[in-house]
Amino acid sequence: MFLSVPHGGRLITALTPSSARPEIARAYANRPFIRLSPREISDLGLIAIGAVSPLDGFMDEKTYRSVVERMRLPDGLVFPLPIVLPVREEESRSLRIGEVVRLLDPSDRLLGLLTVSDIFHRDLEWEAQEVYRTTDPAHPGVAALGRLPGAYAVGGRVTVFDDWSDGPFAAQALTPTESRARFEALGWQTVVGFQTRNPIHRAHEYIQKCSLEVVDGLFLHPLVGETKEDDVPANVRMECYNVLLERYYPKTRVVLGVFPGAMRYAGPREALFHALVRKNYGCTHFIVGRDHAGVGSYYGPFEAHALLRQFSFDELGIIPIFFDTAYYCRTCEGMVSHKTCGHDEGSHVLLSGTKVRQMLRDGLPPPPEMTRPEVAAVLIGHYRKNEEKVPAVSGH
Ligand code: ADX
Repeated sequence: MFLSVPHGGRLITALTPSSARPEIARAYANRPFIRLSPREISDLGLIAIGAVSPLDGFMDEKTYRSVVERMRLPDGLVFPLPIVLPVREEESRSLRIGEVVRLLDPSDRLLGLLTVSDIFHRDLEWEAQEVYRTTDPAHPGVAALGRLPGAYAVGGRVTVFDDWSDGPFAAQALTPTESRARFEALGWQTVVGFQTRNPIHRAHEYIQKCSLEVVDGLFLHPLVGETKEDDVPANVRMECYNVLLERYYPKTRVVLGVFPGAMRYAGPREALFHALVRKNYGCTHFIVGRDHAGVGSYYGPFEAHALLRQFSFDELGIIPIFFDTAYYCRTCEGMVSHKTCGHDEGSHVLLSGTKVRQMLRDGLPPPPEMTRPEVAAVLIGHYRKNEEKVPAVSGH
């Protein structure tokens, strides 16, 4: 059995049965509460299910500073993104170290409890510069920092009810414990993870299938947490996956899950984060293609490759599979990259997001070299319903 060892050696689970909610709600009724936004609920869920093991709670100041500054937890383990629970300044003043607080969703449902271990001030500008390498408010990750009610945060261990996610994909969201069990039941020893926030196009399919040639199974793991406004909604993307899997993939070699995290658009750092998280889900390999988790032109298309190459296997514990830009070549009559095709640009059909969006806007199906017709039909259907909205098909 070769499935990967969780990050830090042990899979965390901070889940508690939801049947205990009424009793716990009564017992802690007088305790202070923190109301979480959908984005913070995603992070809480990731901690609870062990997706961000070895974290067992929201980061304290020491951990936050260490992660932002050097992409490592205080003990040296690689960890590139801060996972923090923001609070308002008044809240930060009313909370006490050591006390247990209730975590509520926006409609006041009790999600779980947190034992306060630290209350601290974040330097948001420094954080933006280090994590996103820009303080430009047009960057969606920086913009999300700008929307926070303040710069204070609370650290501490959490316990979370197992029905923390009542979203539309709750049933499909395998926890890392469940995905590992599924891979084992399928007899897979090597599994490649695929992160995506876009509707599947031919370049995605190509790099997934190239990887499938060398490992036992593919874990398709679309991100369904918060994304930026103009990304295609997760339900539409899932519909694309379902039609594609049905017609073009071997059923016994693919597991489709959903990743409940929010998108940060932190480029290279997020690629590293995505890889470590998929290791926790049991993957032994992880696909990193062109401009992974990028947005606009904030990051170079292969900076994520460069960052991941800086770490040894001992540190990462998962093998990245790097892909150059994939595109269709008319002379080869198939998907290629410059590593597999020597024809000149005249033969190439490049996947341009702008081009595909324009075609969808005009009600025209994008060419099959870019998008499978079944996927194009789903996107056109979605687009007709939301004419004013322009989906981002292949790009950023
Ligand atoms: S991401 O933000 O989740 O990375 P997206 O869903 O577009 O965005 O990409 C999923 C994965 O496919 C990433 O690893 C990305 O680098 C890779 N990828 C997307 N398009 C291409 C392409 N044309 N060639 C090579 N890799 C690609």
